[in-house]
Amino acid sequence: MIEELRKLQRDALAAIREARDAADLERIRVRYLGRREGRLSGLLRGLGRLSAQERPAAGAAANRAKRSLGDALKGRLAELAAAEPRREPDLDLTLPPRRKWRGTIHPVSQAVDDIWTIFRGLGFTRARGPEVDTEWYNFVALNTPLDHPAADEQDTLYLAPGLLLRSHTSPVQIRTMEKYPPPIRIIAPGMVYRRDTYDATHTPAFAQIEGLVVDEGVTFVDFKATLAEFARRFWGPGTQVRFRPSFFPFTEPSAEVDVKRVIVREDGSEEETDWIEIMGAGMVDPAVLDNVGYDSERYTGWAFGMGPARVALLRHGVRDLRLFYENDMRFLGQFT
Ligand code: DAH
Repeated sequence: MIEELRKLQRDALAAIREARDAADLERIRVRYLGRREGRLSGLLRGLGRLSAQERPAAGAAANRAKRSLGDALKGRLAELAAAEPRREPDLDLTLPPRRKWRGTIHPVSQAVDDIWTIFRGLGFTRARGPEVDTEWYNFVALNTPLDHPAADEQDTLYLAPGLLLRSHTSPVQIRTMEKYPPPIRIIAPGMVYRRDTYDATHTPAFAQIEGLVVDEGVTFVDFKATLAEFARRFWGPGTQVRFRPSFFPFTEPSAEVDVKRVIVREDGSEEETDWIEIMGAGMVDPAVLDNVGYDSERYTGWAFGMGPARVALLRHGVRDLRLFYENDMRFLGQFT
């Protein structure tokens, strides 16, 4: 019996040494130490046939063999695990995750895009003009005499005599009409520049969106209906639009357009905002049409100049325009 035990132990240890992986080891364990089919269990069942003198020594030897095989299995398993190349680097699951960097579109650009999308749906095309322009395009052709306060150096950033940073997008009206005959239906977004003090409602560089429609038979009704439709598509069906008489050298009559929004709160209740001015507008002055060689007896038109930053302000309930232009990512990143 002791002899058989020794042989069993030798075979088992050799097999364990040769095992390639944990599955091998498990098979070996079952073959030798398995409770029912294992070879050691088989031997132990034979203990009963031994004499009372032989039994204790054989039993002790069997227990030693069992322990030594158990240890060998454990040892080999640890050896294999240590030899295996690590798949995962050391992980510290308590570290805070790294935030994915995702860019967002600037809230003013978002407003420009959304405004443009609506007008495109209404049949407008997009036009553009230079940011450095001349007194002719910025003022004179727009029926604004150079002794008008707007043309004063106090308000406009001159680069050289007669050359300036455009103070509004209205010169794009002139450039477009010079290039194309009527009918005209354009939207012209762009940056404009003024010598304004920097405060909550003024920045020296800001975005504007110009709109211009010229055709036969265009009337003020056309103009009001289009802007009301725009406002309802942009802010929602309950939006009201108000036209206040105003003055611009390039429109007659002129108006300032205000909107009043209905804000629906989370609990379903509704709240009306104050009237907020979003643009200057009016019927194109016949003198402007004459300046580009259009027949002002035959054609009429309307135009507007909108401030998309004010639109974004109104949209997001922001109170200070400067926040949009100071490029603090903690602020700008909120408008996804
Ligand atoms: N250009 C004007 C401004 O910057 C805004 C404006 C008013 C544009 C009336 C227009 C218009 O096209 O018809 O203050």
